Amino acid sequence: MDIQLSIQNLTKRYKTGDGVTDISLDVRKGELITLLGPSGCGKTTVLRSIGGFLEPDSGEILIENKSVLKTPPEKRPTAMVFQSYNLWPHMTVYDNLAFGLKIRKMKKAEMDFAITEVLKLIRMSGSEKKHPGELSGGQQQRIAVARALLLKPAVLLLDEPFSALDAKLRHEMREELREIQSKTGLTMVFVTHDQEEALSISDRIVVMNHGHIEQIASPQEIYDEPKSLFAAQFIGKMNFLKGVVSADQVIIQNLAFPNPKRLTGEVSIAIRPENVILQDGEETGLSGSVKQIMILGHYAEVSVDVQPFGIIRSFQPRDQVKHLHSGQKVKVNFSKALAFPAV
Ligand SMILES: Nc1ncnc2c1ncn2[C@@H]1O[C@H](COP(=O)(O)OP(=O)(O)O)[C@@H](O)[C@H]1O
Ligand SMILES: [Mg+2]
Repeated sequence: MDIQLSIQNLTKRYKTGDGVTDISLDVRKGELITLLGPSGCGKTTVLRSIGGFLEPDSGEILIENKSVLKTPPEKRPTAMVFQSYNLWPHMTVYDNLAFGLKIRKMKKAEMDFAITEVLKLIRMSGSEKKHPGELSGGQQQRIAVARALLLKPAVLLLDEPFSALDAKLRHEMREELREIQSKTGLTMVFVTHDQEEALSISDRIVVMNHGHIEQIASPQEIYDEPKSLFAAQFIGKMNFLKGVVSADQVIIQNLAFPNPKRLTGEVSIAIRPENVILQDGEETGLSGSVKQIMILGHYAEVSVDVQPFGIIRSFQPRDQVKHLHSGQKVKVNFSKALAFPAV
């Protein structure tokens, strides 16, 4: 396995005591890895440490097997894209893109070729003479990405690059970034607080909370098998119920589930809405009554009032909710339930 970036036991504490502790992470060549977590959990601190804008208290950062800790940001084999595009407003697109290349003393002909190619890649051919003010937010961010790509970094760092854009554009930019990645084979570290964005764009996700790593895994695995209650809460929609372990089974009223983690006592149980089964009739299950049915395209979200637990949300195929109506009594079962130590 080709490790392009290795972060080893990175700790950075600000004077206030905030920061990150003992971050370890290997990123493979060509991988898009996402740091995901709520605002203030330390994502930017990790990214700025990789880029050289922050000096860690301890730990090691290797890029292509070489320590970069002593290397200043402009000499590191990294390039960074920020939420604010940081383009020079008085310069044309061409000059914005050429700036870093001129510093590197690239020849004019070579530079023209590289800029033409990168504009093609971001689908903005012919915009060399425009000024940033004449471009939309999405186009400006594409130019900022292009500027970073031109530096041919060993690792591209992106700090919430799309969060200033509207929802539709954000979706498009995700797809484009994925396409750029597959065309260039570039290694990327992407930062977001948006779990949906992380799930859709990443090869692997690093779930962060309060300055430490909770889980590193593929989007699929994080969604199906969140390792901590935090990861279960933060990623995707989830129902939470209280239960108890008895005779090595996780018990919720009259329902029993396996206890692979060998928990004891009270537990918090997480259930995805798509794993909620609604039945009418005399089946065993939790007794509830249908509160609301929302048709959301090809599926429906049905919320069921289940006392004493409260509202349980379920996703149902649309044709299966035809016979349901508000106020109807139903039995609620779960095809999958994940237990965590109760908090
Ligand atoms: N320069 C700084 N001085 C003091 N505290 C900081 C500084 N930068 C960030 N912090 C604090 O460190 C924590 C992590 O910040 P940051 O890495 O920016 O989080 P994120 O990018 O996940 O929102 C936060 O509590 C933040 O307030
Ligand atoms: Mg940040």
